[in-house]
Amino acid sequence: MKILKLEFKNIFSYGDEITTIEFGEDAKLWQLSGKSGSGKSSLLSIPKLLLFGKTEGSGGKPVKVANIANWINKKGWIRGTIKKGNDLYVIERTFAPSGLSITKNGVVVDRAGIAGLQTVIDNEILDGMPYHIFANVMTLSLNNFKSFISMTPADKRLIIDKIFSLEIINKVHELVKVDMRDLGNAINSSNSQIYALEQTIQTSQAELDSMNSGGESASLAKMKEIEEKLGKVQELYTQQSNLYSTYYGKYTELQQAENLLNRQVFEKNMEATNIMKKIELFNQDKCPTCGTPFNSEDFKHLREILNEQYNGVIEDKTALESKQQEITESKNEYAASLGKIQENINKISAKQNELTVQYKSIEAVQKAVNESVSIKNIIKSTEESKKRLEESIRESNNKMKLLSIMEEMYSADGIKQIMMSSYIPTLNKEINETLSFLGFPYTLTFDNNFDATLQHMNKEIETDNLSTGEHKKVDIAVLCSILKMVKRKYPQINLVFLDETVSSLDYESSTDIIRHLKDISSKMGLNIFIVSHTTLEETLFDVHLNVEKKYGYSFLSVV
Ligand SMILES: Nc1ncnc2c1ncn2[C@@H]1O[C@H](COP(=O)(O)OP(=O)(O)O)[C@@H](O)[C@H]1O
Ligand SMILES: [Mg+2]
Repeated sequence: MKILKLEFKNIFSYGDEITTIEFGEDAKLWQLSGKSGSGKSSLLSIPKLLLFGKTEGSGGKPVKVANIANWINKKGWIRGTIKKGNDLYVIERTFAPSGLSITKNGVVVDRAGIAGLQTVIDNEILDGMPYHIFANVMTLSLNNFKSFISMTPADKRLIIDKIFSLEIINKVHELVKVDMRDLGNAINSSNSQIYALEQTIQTSQAELDSMNSGGESASLAKMKEIEEKLGKVQELYTQQSNLYSTYYGKYTELQQAENLLNRQVFEKNMEATNIMKKIELFNQDKCPTCGTPFNSEDFKHLREILNEQYNGVIEDKTALESKQQEITESKNEYAASLGKIQENINKISAKQNELTVQYKSIEAVQKAVNESVSIKNIIKSTEESKKRLEESIRESNNKMKLLSIMEEMYSADGIKQIMMSSYIPTLNKEINETLSFLGFPYTLTFDNNFDATLQHMNKEIETDNLSTGEHKKVDIAVLCSILKMVKRKYPQINLVFLDETVSSLDYESSTDIIRHLKDISSKMGLNIFIVSHTTLEETLFDVHLNVEKKYGYSFLSVV
């Protein structure tokens, strides 16, 4: 990727007039001069705004969209012409309002929305280089990293991370830690859920045990058996009841017949008594009332008839009595039978009751059995849930193991150390080449923790013994070395801004350094912008740009 041309207007302090910077195919060393507040550092943001739509202020915080476009004019606009392989891209981005359009070899790239077009930039043009790497690499500012050799360990860590783009490792490290915390919480919550489930299983089991229920099928079979018995008993009961009513019918019939005979015998007795009275009357000599003699032939005949009558009645009566006796006997037999049937019926009823009670008690047990079945189901499903939770805990624990490995990997002692140990030897070599180029009589060696040792003729020297100027030289040597390393690592970047890097050095030292940067620029194909509020040696630069603020707007011009 090569940025060939940048055009913009109404960005920050720049006004409505289009500012153009053309880089061309060859790398150059640029001087960007201007008074404080004229708008020099603002230029550092232009490539970031073009490619990512965002930038950060001097404090490192993202600039709000409302502050990117010029406060008065709004309608911020940037156009960049970029070569990537054999393709020519033109990106146009606007701020307040936001907009993005891309053409590739003159053809509009058709994607829905800003996000869609941003993926084209990210993937096709930047090859996936993320914002923070691009921003760090493109704008190396000495103001940001103070002095390398006398920095506090915390500051050093921050700078190392920034320069070598190890921030991403910190971010991953943080994410892994967050994941571990979340996973830990999940495991804890699963464990307490398992505890609750175990409680449920225990109480359900206890309930089940206390029910002490027999098997479900056994009691069902028993119930069926009792039902059958009850059926038979019922049949017997009906049969006996029918028999009872039949016999009872007979018995009452006989009873009535007996009553009738009683009456008839009684009547025959009455009749016999009456005849006897007449016989006794006529057996006398004469009538006791009228004195009529009864010894005539007529009365003799009368007496014979009466005797005959009497005998006839007695005969009838005896016949009736024998019949009566017969019926009474038969009636008594029926009565005895009825007693027996009643006895049977009583027995059958008792059996019926017994069976019904038995049935009901089994039915109650069966209900309990049904309940126990549902408790068993509860226990079963609870155990299943428990199993699932245990499985998920097992999985989580495995994941946790993996995460803790990652955590270690992404910690300061992990990948970072490995990366540092691969960078450091090259960095030390670069630094010492630069230092000797600058005529600096010491060697500087960083260890993997970025602690520096300064040596003179193999003798260690306290860094406190260096003068301020020497300190700065060492820092710039480090900066130049880092510049070369990042350019090798990220060849897609073709411009770098060094903001106020050489500003405070003496003329000779700054000249040495600019010469060295010129060498780097042409050797590595890197456009280096040396931004300074002081004017530097003109002849060393390929281009000299100056920024001036007029009527509240910044103007860039070629000197
Ligand atoms: N959105 C904006 N509209 C107008 N002026 C702005 C805007 N944002 C920043 N500025 C002004 O731009 C100037 C900062 O420019 P800067 O590039 O940092 O200066 P320097 O040349 O010192 O690096 C300040 O005067 C600031 O007030
Ligand atoms: Mg500035």
